[in-house]
Amino acid sequence: MIEPLVTSQLPLRLLRRGKVRDVYESGADTLLLVASDRVSAFDVVMREPVPHKGAVLTQLSAFWFRELAHVMASHFLTADAGAIADRVPGLAEHRDLLAGRAMLVRRTTPLPFECVVRGYLTGSAWAEYRQSGTLAGEPLPAGLVESARLDPPIFSPATKAETGHDQNVTFSHVAGALGQGLAAKLRQASLELYEAGRAYARPRGIIIADTKFEFGTAPPPDGRLLVIDELLTPDSSRFWPADRYEPGKSQPSFDKQPLRDYLAGLKRRSEWNGEAPPPPLPPEVVTATSERYLEAYRLITGRVLEIG
Ligand SMILES: Nc1ncnc2c1ncn2[C@@H]1O[C@H](COP(=O)(O)OP(=O)(O)OP(=O)(O)O)[C@@H](O)[C@H]1O
Ligand SMILES: [Mg+2]
Repeated sequence: MIEPLVTSQLPLRLLRRGKVRDVYESGADTLLLVASDRVSAFDVVMREPVPHKGAVLTQLSAFWFRELAHVMASHFLTADAGAIADRVPGLAEHRDLLAGRAMLVRRTTPLPFECVVRGYLTGSAWAEYRQSGTLAGEPLPAGLVESARLDPPIFSPATKAETGHDQNVTFSHVAGALGQGLAAKLRQASLELYEAGRAYARPRGIIIADTKFEFGTAPPPDGRLLVIDELLTPDSSRFWPADRYEPGKSQPSFDKQPLRDYLAGLKRRSEWNGEAPPPPLPPEVVTATSERYLEAYRLITGRVLEIG
């Protein structure tokens, strides 16, 4: 049984701890991304880890990097704990911590935009549309309802905010910052990756409503544009259960709904104000959330996650 992990401690230089992932320098030109079992909801990170969540995020990204390699080259090297321990000095004793959740990647220079693609009208996109009839500054047809499917999907980039919420920007803003050619490449790659992912997941019972990609440039002499970070996971995307899809209202989340329902109940009864510190979670809420993540992995990949 793999122990749930809140915070990783490895004998490597820690570059950052995100809400969920810890990023280490693992060599001159590689990074080690370790997905913990931390979970956040309403922008607050919970105290309790969700068992297997980190492994689901890592193995699902690994699956997509392979599955979509024909669309675009990625930073992915391996997500096999044995291979990582063999390759990175100092990790031999840490195989248990790495198991399932660690990914070795090529280090790149990340581009400073979150490349969001929206295939359904929800979240901040629905808010913008309701207010001004636009999405990412571009007009959309009138009369769309909440959660409507968008065909074709829409590229709606955002700046990476160090603190607080990412700021939505227009395509021309990205073009101004990176040049028209690179901006167009990012848009095309994002749309192609999303379309391929959405088409793959939909008949398997999951709607990928929207998602965020990151791209980076490989070090010279290669210099190629690579898709980096995580790929089409429940943490970088909105996953909806396809059999419950009903346009005209907000949709349940495939993975976090048990957690959200529990927290919304506390808020309604004024037992939690929606800010840190988080309330304690009952074990059945944690278990139900864990099962949803495992189920998302099983539906998309067609395999049960191997848990040691
Ligand atoms: N191949 C790569 N080269 C360089 N940087 C990378 C690479 N892959 C991922 N990164 C960077 O690793 C970081 C991951 O940390 P991040 O803060 O996003 O973690 P997180 O747990 O996803 O947190 P959050 O939920 O706040 O996004 C990102 O800044 C991303 O740009
Ligand atoms: Mg992130």
